[in-house]
Amino acid sequence: MSTVAKHGKGEMFIAKEEKYGAHNYHPLPVVLERAEGVVVWDVDGKSYFDFLSAYSAVNQGHCHPRIIDALKEQVAKLTLTSRAFYNNKLGDFEEMLCQLFGFDKALVMNSGVEAVETAMKLCRKWAYQVKGVAANQAKIVFAKDNFHGRTISVISASNDNTATHEFGPFLDGIVLFPYNDVDALEQLFKADKNIAGFIVEPIQGEAGIVVPDEDYLMRVRQLCTKYNVLRPLQKCLVFILLIFKFLICFLLIFVIFKVWKRQKKLALLITWFKDGKSSRNSSIRSIHW
Ligand SMILES: Cc1ncc(COP(=O)(O)O)c(C=O)c1O
Repeated sequence: MSTVAKHGKGEMFIAKEEKYGAHNYHPLPVVLERAEGVVVWDVDGKSYFDFLSAYSAVNQGHCHPRIIDALKEQVAKLTLTSRAFYNNKLGDFEEMLCQLFGFDKALVMNSGVEAVETAMKLCRKWAYQVKGVAANQAKIVFAKDNFHGRTISVISASNDNTATHEFGPFLDGIVLFPYNDVDALEQLFKADKNIAGFIVEPIQGEAGIVVPDEDYLMRVRQLCTKYNVLRPLQKCLVFILLIFKFLICFLLIFVIFKVWKRQKKLALLITWFKDGKSSRNSSIRSIHW
């Protein structure tokens, strides 16, 4: 346990999770209690900038008042509908998603791993219905050192021992292939007509932020078109990188703005001293910001 939680109230909360929670994750030793915008506070009142944004789920900032209001209003009106019924919101949301991202259809889910599971099912069904692969022969290629989540089918595509140890047997029909090697990928596509899809992170995350060659994704796209293979992209951590980029730009703009305002304030103070009483009243008003 790091010093962050060791000397404060956090230790107790961590101990409780360790005792009663299943050990499927090893969080950083920071126990958060509240948040606002980009700032989060731990149980000892220490504040942090949240650069993780729940892996992009709170890109909009914590406790955004418009979202909280909409949430409260909806929950008070209709808390949950199972997929056994339609509701008057889902269609609007799916339409907005498709128009925003230029997709034909959207499937709303709770977790990233479900997206990959669905992509695998889509690839297989498409292979049998469209590509003409014989029943149960479809294969899906994954880039090595990937991270796509923790279900059995998804860890079947993992070469990380910590994710797979003692969870076998794993799913058939999965081929692991080196990331960022387009020429070898072409040989594989050429040799095996049963390949239904190639699932790849545009930038690998858990492998240690591995950025491929600039033309990698474009060349993979061309290969997939040439050999009739689907190419689902897995973008969780790409979003995080984009958020980092955005946050750094935001911080820069914020700092520039602050410096500019300070200089303006100094300039106004100088004017105030120089110009005497007549200009003081109007200057005072403008320096109260
Ligand atoms: C690239 C990638 N795919 C999938 C997942 C799994 O997402 P979830 O934990 O929501 O299932 C993650 C989570 O960190 C991820 O980074």
